[in-house]
Amino acid sequence: MRGLKDRVALVTGAGSGIGRAIATRLGEEGMIVGVLDINGEAAAQTVELIKAAGGRADSQVCDITDYENVKAGVAAIESRIGATWALVNNAGWDKPIPFLKTTPDFWQKVVSINYMGPLHMTHAVVQGMVQRGGGRVIFIASDAGRVGSSGEVVYSGTKGATIAFAKALAREVSRKNVTLNCVAPGPTNTPAMDAFVGTGEEGQKIRDAMVRGVPLGRIGEPRDYPGLVAFLASDDAAFMTGQTISVSGGLTMHG
Ligand SMILES: NC(=O)c1ccc[n+]([C@@H]2O[C@H](COP(=O)([O-])OP(=O)(O)OC[C@H]3O[C@@H](n4cnc5c(N)ncnc54)[C@H](O)[C@@H]3O)[C@@H](O)[C@H]2O)c1
Repeated sequence: MRGLKDRVALVTGAGSGIGRAIATRLGEEGMIVGVLDINGEAAAQTVELIKAAGGRADSQVCDITDYENVKAGVAAIESRIGATWALVNNAGWDKPIPFLKTTPDFWQKVVSINYMGPLHMTHAVVQGMVQRGGGRVIFIASDAGRVGSSGEVVYSGTKGATIAFAKALAREVSRKNVTLNCVAPGPTNTPAMDAFVGTGEEGQKIRDAMVRGVPLGRIGEPRDYPGLVAFLASDDAAFMTGQTISVSGGLTMHG
């Protein structure tokens, strides 16, 4: 893809699932990848995978819910691998609980990881992009933020908020050649999904029910997203900003 080689990408939550697949692909595209995760061991494993495939990467332990930690983490990784061209806000978390059974502690955790996290990262990284006159921010949102998902009410709200945040900031920084776009996955086979539905017989039943709702006949795999992320980070996407694209096998179809 055009305009990726030798540029720096930071990917949050790149120690697992969708983030690891994105980081690996950006490494294959010749980008220098900053693998950020709260789990340092998982981040280091992703770096090894990228290096084993001939790519360049370095890891940074970073808790996206803590703004001071984010600022220090971004400064540290940029001092080692260079200034960021593309930021992929991927890290996220949820647990299925009916809203009326949730508690304020739970709301706080879901909002801190899924909304405040991307906000902290974006604030820390986009300052430099504006000064340098260019950059790309890609949010891994969710179709839950577009159509709602029962059992994931607060999470759906954070993803809808992330989509609106990206649009609003896209307007503010467009003249600095900084674009912001969202990718909205549908249900995807990752460790988060295993934790969400369980891995036993009951979990399989929930997965089968999900598949029945997907026109393309399967749930997502981590490999389904990195191509679009690479495109959004590339020069070919220079005229796109403030957009949200669903990648969900046709589960949701937006006009
Ligand atoms: N799996 C799905 O069905 C699905 C569907 C739609 C959207 N998404 C979104 O895709 C993204 C990736 O999800 P996944 O399924 O690959 O999840 P995952 O649980 O496999 O990976 C998430 C990663 O984020 C890291 N992380 C968690 N909290 C963090 C924090 N505070 N700071 C830094 N890193 C942190 C974890 O350590 C982990 O490595 C999330 O934003 C999620 O909301 C997932």
